[in-house]
Amino acid sequence: MCGIIGYVGTERALPVVADGLHRLEYRGYDSAGIALCADSLSIYKSTGVVDDLTLPESSAATCAVGHTRWSTHGKPTDANAHPHTDCHGEIAVVHNGIIDNYESLKAELADHAFTSETDTEVVPHLIEEAWNGGDLTAAVESVVDRLDGSFAICVTAEGCDEIVAARRDSPLVVGHGETGSFVASDVPAFIEHTRRVSYLENGDVATLTPDDVAVTNGGDPVDRPVETVTWDAEAAEKGGYDHYMLKEIHEQPQALRQTLSGRLDAVNGEADLDLDLPEEYVRPLEEIQIVAAGTSYHAGMYARRLLEEYADVRVSVEIASEYEVTGGRDPERTLAVAVTQSGETADTLDAMRKASRAGARTLAVTNTVGSTAAREANHTVYIRAGPEIGVAATKTFAAQVVTLGLLTVELGRERRALSTAMASDLLERLRDVPGAIQQTLDREAAVREAAETYADADAFFFIGRRFGYPVALEGALKLKEISYEHAEGFAGGELKHGPLALVTEETPVLAVLTRGGEPSDLLNNVKEVESRGAPVVGCSSLPSASKYLDVELEVEALGVFEPLVANVYLQLFAYHVARLRGRSIDRPRNLAKSVTVK
Ligand code: M6R
Repeated sequence: MCGIIGYVGTERALPVVADGLHRLEYRGYDSAGIALCADSLSIYKSTGVVDDLTLPESSAATCAVGHTRWSTHGKPTDANAHPHTDCHGEIAVVHNGIIDNYESLKAELADHAFTSETDTEVVPHLIEEAWNGGDLTAAVESVVDRLDGSFAICVTAEGCDEIVAARRDSPLVVGHGETGSFVASDVPAFIEHTRRVSYLENGDVATLTPDDVAVTNGGDPVDRPVETVTWDAEAAEKGGYDHYMLKEIHEQPQALRQTLSGRLDAVNGEADLDLDLPEEYVRPLEEIQIVAAGTSYHAGMYARRLLEEYADVRVSVEIASEYEVTGGRDPERTLAVAVTQSGETADTLDAMRKASRAGARTLAVTNTVGSTAAREANHTVYIRAGPEIGVAATKTFAAQVVTLGLLTVELGRERRALSTAMASDLLERLRDVPGAIQQTLDREAAVREAAETYADADAFFFIGRRFGYPVALEGALKLKEISYEHAEGFAGGELKHGPLALVTEETPVLAVLTRGGEPSDLLNNVKEVESRGAPVVGCSSLPSASKYLDVELEVEALGVFEPLVANVYLQLFAYHVARLRGRSIDRPRNLAKSVTVK
């Protein structure tokens, strides 16, 4: 996720765009840049936050585009920062999203001079080919037809007092101001200047001039209604949600589409994470050691079962701070996988370094390009969830599991452990996760009601089996960290070995009753707690469970990924309980987003 803004009007564009970028930094902050467009184009860009840009004191330009980046292709470097330009520095492009076919497009542009490692840079070069100094909109229309993947782009060019914007699966909103036209990935970028907005739809191409915005779709003119937003700037930054956590929970379908983008071929049963692990290493691989902390550890637990079941490799998952390299293992045939959203967690880095010193190859699965984990590991896979601001990890958990699901298919195929049919089936289910999560989010009112019913309980228990067990642990972690109430996750089968003594009429039990979670066996555990009077909230795809549940939250059919979808109900439950209790949801007491001390 990156932030983009464009302005063309009667005011000086530099302060408008620079202020807008500050307001978009929550969308990405590893590098930034601005293109000022007057008779000639001037580009200012660098790594770091917007304040790190060296900008002119003033500029007479009244047209500009800006970008604040969260890297997905290419490290955060000055050269990779946006805007990107064509060979002559006449066309500037900023982009949010991923262009899946950039490598093949780049191959067609062999006589062009590329200066970055980004997918984006093909766009200005393609426009250069299509544009003859005439109709910029027509040139952009012809280029976006050739792009695969998701994008929101803004283009401006030397001598043109206009911005052309286009979107597919990445948001773009237009602002209609008194002093000009605005376009941005989100309203807060220009809310200081206008509250009159229209939202572009997939396939739209908008041409912004100082006093007009013309939109086409498939070459035909279309009208996008103008709405007036009533939020203030701070609420707008949260997309109208009261907390970043809730916004990030709702971002999951979009984030996961990014995670999956260009990485799977369900027809042929192939996944490609761009890993350069040699086949002669993968085939005889003996063991995978996953090291992680907190929520990432739970994602690792989910992955363990996927990898063991479908890639036929022995997997251990270790709490990073407890990790030790023990004897009897062959480091040469071991892959240590550090799962870490931030890429900066000291315990996880320490474990990864221990594994590396012992001779194991290391793979970082992280959300943060250029993080320490990404720099130090032998291999890196990005989960592409976009920045997560709420301390409670939500969308990054889902993106970690989905990325590790892709890794399972890639390794399983290479190890000849997974048939094409089985791989296709898993990939189809992965592809359906974003839609299933959307349906879950659409039932938020039922979760809020359950939270209202049980918010005053003194303790909450979460139970699950197999893939549902890490989700039970994750549900409990979410609730305890933001509500400050006692919450415990258990493997369903363990209840009778002790925890059942804690269960009373006052302790709600949340159960992950889905495929991939041994629902019939878990139902027996549900009966155990229900017969002791405990209220049961079931995230369920098991119709026969209904009569034992006080609240039933339906989970779409998705095989082993059903618990991942059920987890979204648990995130929402934690959020609403914490909210009813008036907690500091985005910044819970005593906790930090990135734990860089051991
Ligand atoms: O950045 P990491 O994924 O390495 O962070 C690990 C944990 O600190 C983190 O997952 C923590 O448990 C979550 N913020 C809890 O919601």
